[in-house]
Amino acid sequence: FLRGQTRQTLALSPVKIVKAPDGSLNRAALSGAALAKERREIRQQQANEEMDSGGKDVNQSWDLPEWKRTLFNNATSYGRVTSLSIQEQRRELPIFKLRQSLIKAVTENQVMIVVGDTGSGKTTQMTQYLYEEGLSRQGRIGCTQPRRVAAMSVAKRVAEEMGVRMGQEVGYTIRFEDCTSPETSIKYMTDGILQREILLDPMLENYSVIILDEAHERTIATDVLFGLLKKTVRNRPDLKLIVTSATLDAEKFSQYFFNCPIFTIPGRTFPVDVMYTKDPETDYLDAALVTVMQIHLFEPAGDILLFLTGQEEIDTACEILFERMKALGPMVPELIILPVYSALPSDMQSKIFEPAPPGGRKIVISTNIAETSVTIDGIYYVVDPGFVKQSAYDPKLGMDSLVVTPISQAQAQQRAGRAGRTGPGKCYRLYTEAAFRNEMLPNTIPEIQRTNLANTVLTLKAMGINDLLHFDFMDPPPVQTMLTALEQLYSLNALDDDGLLTRLGRRMAELPLDPALAKMLLISVDLRCSEEILTIVSMLSIPNIFYRPKEKQALADSRKAKFHQPEGDHLTLLTVFNSWKQNNYSNPWCFDHFIQARSLRRAQDIRKQLLGFMDRYNHDMVSCGKNYTQVRRAICAGFFTHTAKKDPTEGYKTLVEGTPVYIHPSSALFNKSPEWLIYHELVLTTKEYMREVTAVEPKWLVEVAPRFFRVADANKISRRKRQERIEPLYNKYELPNEWRLSRVKRNVHSKQ
Ligand code: CDP
Ligand code: MG
Repeated sequence: FLRGQTRQTLALSPVKIVKAPDGSLNRAALSGAALAKERREIRQQQANEEMDSGGKDVNQSWDLPEWKRTLFNNATSYGRVTSLSIQEQRRELPIFKLRQSLIKAVTENQVMIVVGDTGSGKTTQMTQYLYEEGLSRQGRIGCTQPRRVAAMSVAKRVAEEMGVRMGQEVGYTIRFEDCTSPETSIKYMTDGILQREILLDPMLENYSVIILDEAHERTIATDVLFGLLKKTVRNRPDLKLIVTSATLDAEKFSQYFFNCPIFTIPGRTFPVDVMYTKDPETDYLDAALVTVMQIHLFEPAGDILLFLTGQEEIDTACEILFERMKALGPMVPELIILPVYSALPSDMQSKIFEPAPPGGRKIVISTNIAETSVTIDGIYYVVDPGFVKQSAYDPKLGMDSLVVTPISQAQAQQRAGRAGRTGPGKCYRLYTEAAFRNEMLPNTIPEIQRTNLANTVLTLKAMGINDLLHFDFMDPPPVQTMLTALEQLYSLNALDDDGLLTRLGRRMAELPLDPALAKMLLISVDLRCSEEILTIVSMLSIPNIFYRPKEKQALADSRKAKFHQPEGDHLTLLTVFNSWKQNNYSNPWCFDHFIQARSLRRAQDIRKQLLGFMDRYNHDMVSCGKNYTQVRRAICAGFFTHTAKKDPTEGYKTLVEGTPVYIHPSSALFNKSPEWLIYHELVLTTKEYMREVTAVEPKWLVEVAPRFFRVADANKISRRKRQERIEPLYNKYELPNEWRLSRVKRNVHSKQ
């Protein structure tokens, strides 16, 4: 396909080795106008599909893009082509030779750090070794994972290795999904789950061993568990604690945990040649795909791993790649394209572990899940554009949002290392060496230092830890972040004037929900609409349920419009759920109405679990019938900080920061534009869109959140505002309201 084109070398400058690919890829052929057009089309299509972003139900044979259909429905399953039995595979792992010394170290030390390269067998083997040694007789062996996907897939693998049914000896628990039984001795779970369990039982009586796995990821939950477990370990000399890390933080971990020993599993890694681009790439997606094609066409056998930032980007990349491969015709070796992200249904996830067909090659396009959480064998080439999507507190929005940011040097090293597990590999960094040295931070900033902490603060307060500024954090969050969280909890009425947990706050902490959702649910009991709000909360916990196939958009939209409620999207969600219920939870009904059955079933499942909590804590379930005003009041009570007011010129402005925001085209209120509304979340695509909005009356805001809003003194309101006739509502950010902030601050200090 290169014939007749001008050749041009891809601007990659190898650092360690200098080796131009034999037939350098014609970049112009693949990029330039053609690529731009290709991407524009796909973007356009995505903009059209904006309404159906969110997990697609791949079991329904609607109009999936061809690459997805090929992958998910028609792809042959090659199975694990390996001559080794599953037990032989276990013996091949680097950790196997260290089994005895590992057991000895665990027996002799209460706390230990284990360091080893990803794929050395820490997660899957340590639990089994301890189980085989009988450590689970006194209590379970618990192992935490920062990601739900990892918890599930690892539990599945271990159940397979032990030859037991999932949920019996081996199980997992993630939020809203408990796959364990009284027989379970090895339990994998997210760190969030253990954080909840330790709240209810600070001594963790059910466990004999806790493995804080993937501690280098430094999620908030893991960081909080560090501090809490340190205490538990002091009070329970028989509890073993193992902290594992794939990177170089071990010394720091050891110092924090009473200078405990560090157990190192020597890696079985091969050298990786790292190459940088000569000049900065203006379009990393373009550069990445060109590099992938170049590797596929000109480099020796070996699978490719490409890191991108999120589901949509990965799907786009897969699609472009698929189309390009198709355009090259049948003479080119097969390229199996595999996306990996956490929203991928679990039956698809197992596909990534299957080897490529003989003569072909596979490319895995993944979020940073594949950095350490998931190990894929056979990777020889890593393409690293140098970006990651992570959540960070956005002061402009007054809430956490996901932003694409450069990775750290540590992450870059980790990514490169993925190429050297099976043999000598290559890593293509799509950034310059200068950028690596000067622009990337040495280490990733722990989540606890960059995100909203309301949930964490609530949990800690519920455990009786009031002196948050002196909590034993490995890296304490900034004081301002802590104060923001305290303020938010105060305005939700979860904390009192002294910064102590209120009755309401305690009840909020008991629910596995974010503070605003928990508040909304609890208030709905008093407002006598808990049946309705429980459904709405469950529906808000799943990705978009509406399906909008390309060729039938108009039909899908008109079916969806039948559910639309004049008050807004929350009630539309309620209506969908209730109609489904009236139709006996039928699948064909979903299909007819362009609704993802899988998502609805998940909402039903979440509802059932939350109902269990309502029952356990004696919260009444009452229905308001058609009196939807109560439902809207309850929404206000939780989400009053998400109020937006219609802007005289265009769109809306958030009340808290005055950020311009817009009603999402899929909303029931898109053409209605009420004066005041509350949004569930903001998504930034072409504009800052509000998702799931409901019309509210300003007086409710003052009613449900008197600590946050108050009616303005007409004399004090500015002339400009009087002219604009803005409702006399002050929000605290506009008022010289330092007293409140300083009071919270004083209390934090005085509780030392
Ligand atoms: O935790 P660590 O990164 O040290 O390794 P691990 O997760 O225990 O994985 C050890 C090996 O088990 C990997 O190299 C894979 O071959 C295999 N594995 C798998 O096949 N499927 C999984 N879901 C997890 C691991
Ligand atoms: Mg692991």
